[in-house]
Amino acid sequence: MKGKFDHFMQKEIYEQPESVVNTMRGRVNFDQHRITLGGLRAYLNIIRRGRRIVFCACGTSYHSCIATRAIFEELTEIPVSVELASDFLDRKTPIFRDDICVFVSQSGETADTILALRYCQERGALCVGVVNTVGSTISRETHCGVHINAGPEIGVASTKAYTSQYIALLMIALQLSEDRISLTERRNQIIEGLHALPGQIKKVLDGDKGLQELATGVLSNQRSLLIMGRGYQYATCLEGALKIKEISYMHSEGILAGELKHGPLALIDENMPVIIVMTQDSLYPKVQSAYAQITARKAQPIVVCNEDDDGIPKGCKTIRVPRTVDCLQGLLNIIPLQLLSYHLAVMNGFDVDFPRNLAKSVTTE
Ligand code: UD1
Ligand code: BG6
Repeated sequence: MKGKFDHFMQKEIYEQPESVVNTMRGRVNFDQHRITLGGLRAYLNIIRRGRRIVFCACGTSYHSCIATRAIFEELTEIPVSVELASDFLDRKTPIFRDDICVFVSQSGETADTILALRYCQERGALCVGVVNTVGSTISRETHCGVHINAGPEIGVASTKAYTSQYIALLMIALQLSEDRISLTERRNQIIEGLHALPGQIKKVLDGDKGLQELATGVLSNQRSLLIMGRGYQYATCLEGALKIKEISYMHSEGILAGELKHGPLALIDENMPVIIVMTQDSLYPKVQSAYAQITARKAQPIVVCNEDDDGIPKGCKTIRVPRTVDCLQGLLNIIPLQLLSYHLAVMNGFDVDFPRNLAKSVTTE
């Protein structure tokens, strides 16, 4: 079952060049730059006329919604909100008939997400599922949706489901915007980026040894780790921090770099481990400013940056990744963090696939 790998999670991290292809198979025509999601065909115009799009999910699935919120808004020009299912239900959030509610779930059996789905259905909203498990409750009870086709995910800590959910959500946004002539160039750029993705993921996986050295080196025996970034990379920070918490039991926090001055900067000194996600996009200068703020307080951050970026200050530790389209970069940047969390857990001798206190799917509230 695990093949040449020691753990299911490791296998699933290494499967991502193939799982992302499976998610796109039969749905992306790279020559004609066309997306076809059979499951949404009859609902596209209803969704386009929606008043707003409300994403609802838990855990890693929630992070895949955060990762694609900005590109969804850019391509559909519909306001998008992202909700944690438990809080959405606690607040009894107002939901209306012209809302489009999207439920993202690997298992399709998470209780909080199911209850949120039923809450929205009772209020007449269109309910769309983005699910890995065919025939699951959410897959069956939503009006329509997309199966991410990532294949079974055994490791409790989600890896390939995250990247496949991210791509499935991107494909939905791309298909919804196929009628916007002004966005043709942007859509084509993204679709071409998706075509190059499997090879780029393979390249990131080749850097595994470097991540193992970070885990057993500067990051071993640390009590906490801050991971900061902004824009498209905020989701990368949240998801990376969750991976590390889930399987290495080390405290870790994803931080929006723009929020540094409003509190987190107080945590920074020469003893606080920091990873800063500083790949090149429109917000690069702002992340550089965050880098300057923390190094001025003697932090020695590890920098996730593009392989061809020669603007990274000499002497700092880097995790180099290939460059892709800004809204796709998070699909590459998360992989070193998945590998890092894996090595931290293995180094500590923890149960990587079935971490303490956690379940693959929380089917009770
Ligand atoms: C479907 C087939 C696929 C086949 C392809 C051929 C299934 C599960 N999928 O894939 O095997 O190769 O046609 O064109 O038989 N749905 C929901 N909620 C969800 C997810 C899906 O209601 O959360 C619905 C969709 O609206 C759709 C059906 O389930 O009606 C199948 O979804 P999906 O597998 O994504 O559709 P296709 O990609 O077209
Ligand atoms: C948790 C899992 O129990 O549920 C996470 O450990 C997952 O990996 C979260 O992200 C949500 O699960 P699902 O199946 O709804 O995506």
